[in-house]
Parts: sequence; C-alpha cells; structure tokens
Amino acid sequence: PVLVVDFGAQYAQLIARRVREARVYSEIVPHSMPVAEMMAKDPAAIILSGGPSSVYEPGAPALDAGLFDNEVPVFGICYGFQAMAQALGGTVAHTGGREYGRTLLAAQGGTLLRDLPADLPVWMSHGDSVTIAPVGFAVTASTPGASVAAFEDPVSRRAGVQFHPEVAHTEHGQEMLRRFLYDIAGIEPTWTPSNIIDEQTAAIRAQVGDKQVICGLSGGVDSAVAAALVHKAVGDQLTCVFVDHGLLRSGEAEQVEKDYVAATGIRLKVVEAADRFLDALDGVQDPEQKRKIIGREFIRVFEAAAREVDAERHVEFLVQGTLYPDVVESGGGTGTANIKSHHNVGGLPDDLQFSLIEPLRTLFKDEVRALGTELGLPEEMVHRHPFPGPGLAIRVIGAVDRHRLDVLRAADLIAREELSAAGLDRDVWQFPVVLLADVRSVGVQGDGRTYGHPVVLRPVSSEDAMTADWSRLPFDLLAKISTRITNEVPEINRVVLDVTSKPPGTIEWE
Ligand code: XMP
Repeated sequence: PVLVVDFGAQYAQLIARRVREARVYSEIVPHSMPVAEMMAKDPAAIILSGGPSSVYEPGAPALDAGLFDNEVPVFGICYGFQAMAQALGGTVAHTGGREYGRTLLAAQGGTLLRDLPADLPVWMSHGDSVTIAPVGFAVTASTPGASVAAFEDPVSRRAGVQFHPEVAHTEHGQEMLRRFLYDIAGIEPTWTPSNIIDEQTAAIRAQVGDKQVICGLSGGVDSAVAAALVHKAVGDQLTCVFVDHGLLRSGEAEQVEKDYVAATGIRLKVVEAADRFLDALDGVQDPEQKRKIIGREFIRVFEAAAREVDAERHVEFLVQGTLYPDVVESGGGTGTANIKSHHNVGGLPDDLQFSLIEPLRTLFKDEVRALGTELGLPEEMVHRHPFPGPGLAIRVIGAVDRHRLDVLRAADLIAREELSAAGLDRDVWQFPVVLLADVRSVGVQGDGRTYGHPVVLRPVSSEDAMTADWSRLPFDLLAKISTRITNEVPEINRVVLDVTSKPPGTIEWE
C-alpha cells in the first residue's frame, strides 16, 4: 500500500481518497506508528500529510528521521513537507509570511509540476516556511509567501509541496499526486474495481470455507454491495435478512425484495415488523430516544430472524457493510463529541454469536459504488442517496405514527421524483424531506382557509457527510416540488427550504 501518515489534521482521509482515485491502494496510519511498523507493511510509498501549521508549534508531532534511512519514496504535503525538510537537513524558518487560502504558484520545471500552467492557483495554509531545501533536492516552485513551495529529488524518489494538492481548490492537484505516484515513486495504477472484487472474493472464500453466512440488508448501498460480494464468493451459503420496520420511503422495500433479488439471485428473508416498531415508538418525541428504541427493536428482530435461519442451517458468519471511514474514525479515538447516536441498522450487539465478515472495511463510499456497478447491481440501488438507519422516524419532527409517516412518504416521493426528472440525482449528496408534524400554519387553498403542516426540503451537497452545504437547486425545480406537494398532499400547506450548512446544522433534523 501507499501509507498516508496522519499528522492530525483532516487531510489524511482526503489524501488517501485521492491516491485511490489514482487507482493506487492507500491506507492511513497514525504518526505515532514506529517506522519499523510502517516498513513492515512494505509500503510502495509514504505520504506525510498536513497537520499543525508549523513544525515549531508547541506539541507539533515529530517525524522520525529514521524514516529516511529506508529507500521508500516519500511525498511531504504542507506540514509533512516542512517536517521532511527539517529531517533531511533543510531549513524551516519563521518568515512571518503567513499564507492562508488561495495563492498563485510559480512552477519551474521538475517532474511533479512539469508542463503545468504558470501561475497556478493552489491552496495553502502555513505559518512557517521552508527557506532552504535539503541537499540533493531541486526547488521547483515558489509562491509570494514561500520561496521554497515545492522540491523534489528523483534519485531518492522524494518530493514535497507546501500547498495542498488534495483539495479541489488546488488546480491540477490530482495531476501532481499522480506524477508523484507514477513518475517519481514508479507505482502502477492497478487498484481497479475488478481487481478489488477478485481479491475480496478470494479472501471471503478462504475465510468462510463451507460454512453458512447471514447478512442484514438495510436497503442502502453498503449492505447491498457487501452482500453481493459475499454472494459472488460463496453463492448459496449466504442468506440475507431484510427487516421492514415501516419507516422506509416509498418503494424501498419493494426495491430490495424484487430488483435486488432479481439482480443477484440472493436468498432473502423479509421480516415485516412495522407494527412492532410503531408500537414501541408510540408517543416518543425525543430524537435520541427514537434512535435507541429503533436500535433495540432492530437488534431483537434481526436476532430472532437470525435464529430462524440458524435453525435451518447453522450460521457461522455475519456480513457487515463497515466502510473505511468508520474504521479510521473509530481507530482515531480522540474523544470526539457524540453528536448523534448513529445507529447503523444492520448493527449488532457485542454478544452476537457470529464471526464478522467485513468486505468493505478498506473502501470508501465511491469505491463501494464502483464495485456495485461492476457486480451488476441496479444503478438506482448503487447510486441511492444515503438514508439513515432510523429511517423516516427521524424526519418526522414530533411523535411518529402511521398517518404522519404516510404524509411524509408522499411528500418525499414527489421531491425524489422531481429531482430525478431534472437529472440532478447525482448533483446532491442527499435530499431529506422533513415533516414538522407539531407545527401548523394558516394557508389558503381554493377559497378556503387551511391549517396544515410544513415540510422542509433539505437538499445538501457533501463529500463524506462530515461537512455539507445546502444545494443550490434550480428555483424552477423547487417551485415544481412545492406546487406538487401542496396540491397532492392535503395535510401540507407550506414547503420551506433549509439553507443551513453543516456545521452548524446537521444534515438530518434529528
Ligand atoms: P447528520 O444528520 O449527523 O448525518 O449530519 C450525517 C449522515 O448520517 C446519516 N445519519 C444516520 N445514518 N443511522 C444511520 O445509519 C443514524 O442514526 C443516522 N443519523 C444520521 C445522515 O442521513 C447523513 O447521511
């Protein structure tokens, strides 16, 4: 793998993703990992990520110069660039020339920046600067605030840049990363969906042998792809369980029951549990309470279904659609605040009697989608927007009941239909529709007064749901959605647009 050393800022995941977009497998490792341990992973290259703004900042993580006793290619970015310069005998100084945000890069040849336009907009955030490159390194770029903004040594296969090539604001950043990987480090781009499928299915076969496997399907992309992958590996040894908790959107249960089974031939057990969930949720308004109840009921229902399957065929393994960001984030363990108890439906209690199969635990969402397509899953399923495990229960603000869910489902379907008709499904990350069930407002319709409920449209754009911005959907589309919802859903007489980014808002309202 290419190892991305995480110096504590948010950039490591982004870098790892960009490396994989260049079709090279990458993994994130903490900066505290000893060099020997990194080398034991036999890295094809090491990328040192951004971090604090200066190597002189108090508490700035140290870079073990022993790294450079090895012949592995190294690319330093931002903080990683300064740390690398310092470790190799260059000079980093307080120049006073702080640069934050966009600046112009003047490139002067070299491999990394070869043939790129002069005066390239790049994204910077640094206080101190490298003033003298280490011996053997050619300086290939400067900016107004950094005389040494990029350097490289093709012989030792090391290079670095003061700016952030991984962010979209840096033009040609991906090109630079590719040049490091292919031209400086000499790595072949072989990380492709079909290779991943071959590797994963072989690994799953080896793990499972002739034992039986069970998988919970949520209707979402991750569990669908994980199950399809396991099915490809072990065929009929897999049984899937789909719990219909009555909190799904219009058409979702059918999509799983028909389209998915048709595409994959997977054996599916559907459990109708709407009554049970709605009874348990009766009168509950508090969002965390809703989540806890749904999580608890889900596990009970799933366990019961698993026991039934197990009675027929003894099950040893459970498939989980855990993704790489979940793995990285739970490994981070730096006391992040519990904003919401994300209950990943498909989740499981600690004492479940199965061993886990997690075929997606090295993958990012976009890679999972690419696998789904390669595995022949329906496009609507592969490109489904993320949907929270607790479903529509957390999009009815107030207590949940059947009627309220039906109202929300009708409005949600209209919003989804119109977004698709406008061809904008892939332009938004998610498009929650939220029913403010306890709020009423006065309206007029025909020649009568109405006293109905508002729905909130919450279209957002995001790369990973950690941050998001409200989507600037065309006004005509919003108008059409609003007209249709107020005409077709009698309980709703007002449609409003949520124009809050995340932070400070979250994507969902609860
Ligand atoms: P928030 O609302 O925290 O949501 O900005 C971030 C992403 O997570 C989804 N979400 C959930 N997913 N169980 C899930 O499986 C949950 O309890 C849950 N709550 C929020 C949300 O739809 C968005 O994609």
